[in-house]
Amino acid sequence: LENGLARTPPMGFNNWNTTGCRAEFNEAMVKGIADIFVNKGLKDVGYQYVNLDDCWALPTRNSKGDLQPDPKRFPNGIKAVADYIHSKGLKIGIYTSAGTKTCNTAGFPGGLNHEQQDANLFASWGIDYLKYDNCNNQGVDAQKRYKAMRDALKATGRPIVYSICEWGKSDPKIWTWGEPVGNLWRTTGDISDNWSSMISKAKANRVLSQYAGPGHWNDPDMLEVGNGGMTPTEYRTHFSLWAVMAAPLLIGSDLRKVNDDTFKILENKDVIDVDQDKLGKQATITSNSGGLVVYNKVLANGDHAVALSNENTATATISTTAAAIGMGGATSYTLKDLWTKSTKTTSGAISASVPGHGTVLFRVSKSGTTPPGDTVRYEAESAT
Ligand code: GLA
Repeated sequence: LENGLARTPPMGFNNWNTTGCRAEFNEAMVKGIADIFVNKGLKDVGYQYVNLDDCWALPTRNSKGDLQPDPKRFPNGIKAVADYIHSKGLKIGIYTSAGTKTCNTAGFPGGLNHEQQDANLFASWGIDYLKYDNCNNQGVDAQKRYKAMRDALKATGRPIVYSICEWGKSDPKIWTWGEPVGNLWRTTGDISDNWSSMISKAKANRVLSQYAGPGHWNDPDMLEVGNGGMTPTEYRTHFSLWAVMAAPLLIGSDLRKVNDDTFKILENKDVIDVDQDKLGKQATITSNSGGLVVYNKVLANGDHAVALSNENTATATISTTAAAIGMGGATSYTLKDLWTKSTKTTSGAISASVPGHGTVLFRVSKSGTTPPGDTVRYEAESAT
């Protein structure tokens, strides 16, 4: 959606993967996350949106027809939370559904046929990001429902990132029509905190590169890093793959409780830079040999990010070449391993031993001069 927003994939937090609808999703939690964004350096590396998911509202609208914050969770309302988050230099997101009710079985009121009223309310609270879900949609055409809220948000005059969802289900699939409608769209069902769920989302999302770009991203769902159901190796794979796929980086763990290893993953600036690269290209798959997968993401300065990802359990060597990823022609290449930070020089081989469920993520740059025809060499020769 060309609304000037999400020129790179959104980065932030969403409570759903850690709290679901439980009571611990409340004002104290949300403010605590905003504090940690500032105090632990997450804001400095680009995390910006603190997003509230389902269950923030009461089950009924008020006499004016407005949505009402649950006073047990948000005793001071949402505007007070928004003000707090803004005072930290951060932005706030909220959730509702393009249906009569939201997705949680408790059934909070949805936005269908209330689009302008709800958009106005969100804007009056200072909301910067809306996740608009797909439950209880009464069979109304998806494009119609999502365009109605897009237009309502625009009419508020407030810049609001617009995240839409169909979990990749209906036909025509959302990525084929999403570009003028949303800033990002879910390509998959809900992620859970285990390897098979996470890698199934990656597989479904990685074939959709052609649809992603600045302002309009594929969304394979939020991060599980730090929630405890995967190994550190698997979480590094999760973060690496989301980065090369230019996916939104929405932290889904309770940062008040996670360990330092989690911060090390989430704050790896080199990996974040791959995700946030200005060119906005999602990686394509160079090769996939029985679960040994090479992802190739072109970056704005001509470097490539290459993820060598091992979906099997045994350690394996994964290899590709500079020519295979479209970088042939130079005499040497520098490979920086974005997790270990070590660098090596090669004449074109891009290869590593990768543990089971692991991913080696390289930033590949040309370090040697190109053969005849190259300007530098030509000038050097003519000078003699
Ligand atoms: C759906 C969405 C999830 C979450 C829940 C909330 O399942 O896909 O991301 O927002 O609804 O009820």
